[in-house]
Amino acid sequence: MRKSEIGRVVCAEAVAPATYRLVMELPVLAAAVRPGQFLHLRTASGRDPLLRRPFSPSRVWPERGEVEIIYRVVGRGTELLSRLRCGDSADVLGPLGSTFTLAGDLLLVGGGVGIAPLLYAAQVADPTRTTVIIGGRNEEELFWRHLFPQNLRGLLTATDDGSFGHHGFGVDLVPEALAARHFDRVLTCGPTPMMRKVTELCAAAGIACEVSLERRMGCGTGGCLACICDKRAGGHAKVCQDGPVFAAEEVYV
Ligand code: FES
Repeated sequence: MRKSEIGRVVCAEAVAPATYRLVMELPVLAAAVRPGQFLHLRTASGRDPLLRRPFSPSRVWPERGEVEIIYRVVGRGTELLSRLRCGDSADVLGPLGSTFTLAGDLLLVGGGVGIAPLLYAAQVADPTRTTVIIGGRNEEELFWRHLFPQNLRGLLTATDDGSFGHHGFGVDLVPEALAARHFDRVLTCGPTPMMRKVTELCAAAGIACEVSLERRMGCGTGGCLACICDKRAGGHAKVCQDGPVFAAEEVYV
């Protein structure tokens, strides 16, 4: 059951170039939102810009009633968001969309701000049965590695420029990870070419895979058709309502 809640900002800070971290007091949504789902958010003044923006929480602390969002400034909506300061308010609708399956031994593969929903997945799943592969352009973009639970089964990193971890893409590390250990499921979110490659590798290895798709969204609730993707069986799915998390065999990434 989705709800609208006005959240008070308790932390707003830059964590990397053009990348920001926002923590909001949202007691109702913190108790309700699950990994993979998203919140639809706008500044509480509401009218500029008119449309909400979708963000998947990166971590949630239900006991404190707090939700963390980490995002990159890519346009006017996120630029306005980056001006929020402690004590300001945001108007948040949610939880929206589908959830990741978190049972069993998991491999999480993320790139860029697509790492956000995987971080929340790692917070809720059993960390000792969770291996994470993350990639970014450079070491600064891999600040995420400090946010994952300390007792993960494994954390592998890659940077495009070789400044930290494997020199190359995170997806380069997937074949070796799949060969080295048993995984029940792979969850992936990030740039489209990365997710496409991950789905191909999982299909070849016979391992279940879930993808979290990103689309431009209007309503966020199934009414405007701004967010459709193509289904492999034919026809379309609404990323806001049927997704954003899909079984990899269900949709074209
Ligand atoms: Fe309107 Fe998905 S955003 S239908």
